[in-house]
Amino acid sequence: MTYAIISDIHGNAPSLQLVLADARAHGADGYLFAGDYCISAPWANEVIGLIRSIPGARCIRGNDEDHLDAPDGDDGQFEVSRWCARAISPDNRAWLDALPEEIALDCQGVTIRMAHSSEAFVGKTLHEHFRTSALPARYPEGAVSREALLDDFRHTLAQDERFCACLATLQQGIYIFGHNHIQSHGCFDGRWLINPGSCGLPLDCGDFCAAYTLLTIEDGVISVEERRIPYDVEALIAQVKTTGQYQNARIWSEVIFSEWHTCREKVYFFLTCADEYARRTGDERRPFARDTWEAAYAAWQDCAGQRWPELFVR
Ligand SMILES: [Fe+2]
Repeated sequence: MTYAIISDIHGNAPSLQLVLADARAHGADGYLFAGDYCISAPWANEVIGLIRSIPGARCIRGNDEDHLDAPDGDDGQFEVSRWCARAISPDNRAWLDALPEEIALDCQGVTIRMAHSSEAFVGKTLHEHFRTSALPARYPEGAVSREALLDDFRHTLAQDERFCACLATLQQGIYIFGHNHIQSHGCFDGRWLINPGSCGLPLDCGDFCAAYTLLTIEDGVISVEERRIPYDVEALIAQVKTTGQYQNARIWSEVIFSEWHTCREKVYFFLTCADEYARRTGDERRPFARDTWEAAYAAWQDCAGQRWPELFVR
């Protein structure tokens, strides 16, 4: 049995199409989707339609599905969430709302569990080391090779006592999660941890690729293959610029473009910048209102990481 494990598509239907074609070519006969189907790229309906057309696909809910319930107000900080919520069809919204938070399944006597965040399995330990906002300090030279990242992932976690204590409470088996958009995997004392990375918005300091992972279980033997499918990011951005999302949520779209260009976290740093901007101007409105959102983005572009350098290395 070979599963294609796919997570964090974030409305990027072109990347999902590439991943599904690659998975089919590699003999995938099962599909596991680990959440975050919408928000960031504008094709949530197309993404959900593709997933719903796969017989037997197993899916769980991600945290971005919760953002579809963003509070009313003028479209500042939540411009993209509210645009996406308006764009999703009622039928697809009902499908999203019915998704479970976690699932467990058995494959040839091997138990596979899946939740959107590693926190469901190992507490905050993994995320503290390997969250995207920590990567600029972790890899200050910029891009990091897959081999170096996997070495770091396995070595760092194996040496973390709190992580090992969490791990000891888990039964042997396979634990799948996404959420941090960092493709990684490792086997720790009989417990496999697998994060397929992000299909639609990779943030793991590599090349811009649609990431996913193949998991094969054959006669009880487990093997894992990380896949990364390169594609034309400029063509993707040009396509987004023709959509209603870009017209209605330009600032959020532009921040996502910079994540696609760099394969690194930008949203968190922009939100931090906006918070600092609002604090300096005495604006206590949260979520950020339209005028603050636009002014903070102008300041963000202006400083480009220079004027408030302490904001960009946290
Ligand atoms: Fe995500």
